Amino acid sequence: MYTTLKEVTRKAEELNYTVGAFNAHNLEMLPDMIRAAKEEGAPIIIQTSVDTAKYIGHENLVAVCKSMATKEMVDVVLHLDHARDFDDIKEAIDKGYTSVMFDGSHLPFKENIMKTCAVVEYAHKHGVSVEGELGTIGGTEEGIHVDDDKKVYTNPKDAVEFVRATRVDALAIAIGTNHGQYKSKTEVNIPLLKEIKAVVDVPLVIHGGTGVKEKDIHELIDNGIRKFNVGTELLVAWTKTAKETFAETKENKSLRHNIIPCNKAVKEIVKHKIEIFMNKSGHLNKVI
Ligand code: 13P
Repeated sequence: MYTTLKEVTRKAEELNYTVGAFNAHNLEMLPDMIRAAKEEGAPIIIQTSVDTAKYIGHENLVAVCKSMATKEMVDVVLHLDHARDFDDIKEAIDKGYTSVMFDGSHLPFKENIMKTCAVVEYAHKHGVSVEGELGTIGGTEEGIHVDDDKKVYTNPKDAVEFVRATRVDALAIAIGTNHGQYKSKTEVNIPLLKEIKAVVDVPLVIHGGTGVKEKDIHELIDNGIRKFNVGTELLVAWTKTAKETFAETKENKSLRHNIIPCNKAVKEIVKHKIEIFMNKSGHLNKVI
């Protein structure tokens, strides 16, 4: 089913798992990402940046996600990642995305609340979910440096006020992760996550999933992380494979011979991550 962030995270909360949110960087890799979820029997959030949505075309992304959700019988959410401009958000909603993120984390607190409220009002009127962000998650996005000079962790008190005032469906928090960290791993601040979880009653979101140690993932899930973003790892795998296949190819050989291995590399990572995210051994803790 083509569905919303609110719906998939509600189910994840019930059974104590997290939903993988994977950044699609081109249309080529998209079908295999959804097939990976199908093979794992799991929901998937496909997310794009504003620029990728414009590059591929919102309607094309919506069409593929919708038709594959129906044909493959997988729960698919199409989410706009890190949008800062209301017009970009409105365009995604009007063209059929089921979830959007308004990233006002760079703004003063009150302004972040005000602008997030405006997004929530428009999105909810259209049945679309909203993710907000508090604190700063630094690093790079799509290879471009983002503002992490004054990196700030999420303050639990602010999180309470933010969630109450904005009515967001999910909250991205800063607990030590960085976007684009693929050569090293980060130290996540679990005590801070526990503090936030104790006072905030919405699904929490991890950004910069590439840089998170896999051994930490279950603890993150047990403490309320219901959306887990992974982008760079897929991008790096696709590009590395493309460098190999295109280096060896004859110019008149069908492109699919070069591109299928790239998509397959992405698919394997998505499957591997989803296996951890579904937290099969952790279900019992929640159900009993
Ligand atoms: P990575 O690219 O570091 O995995 O982060 C993805 C992300 O958080 C997208 O918002």
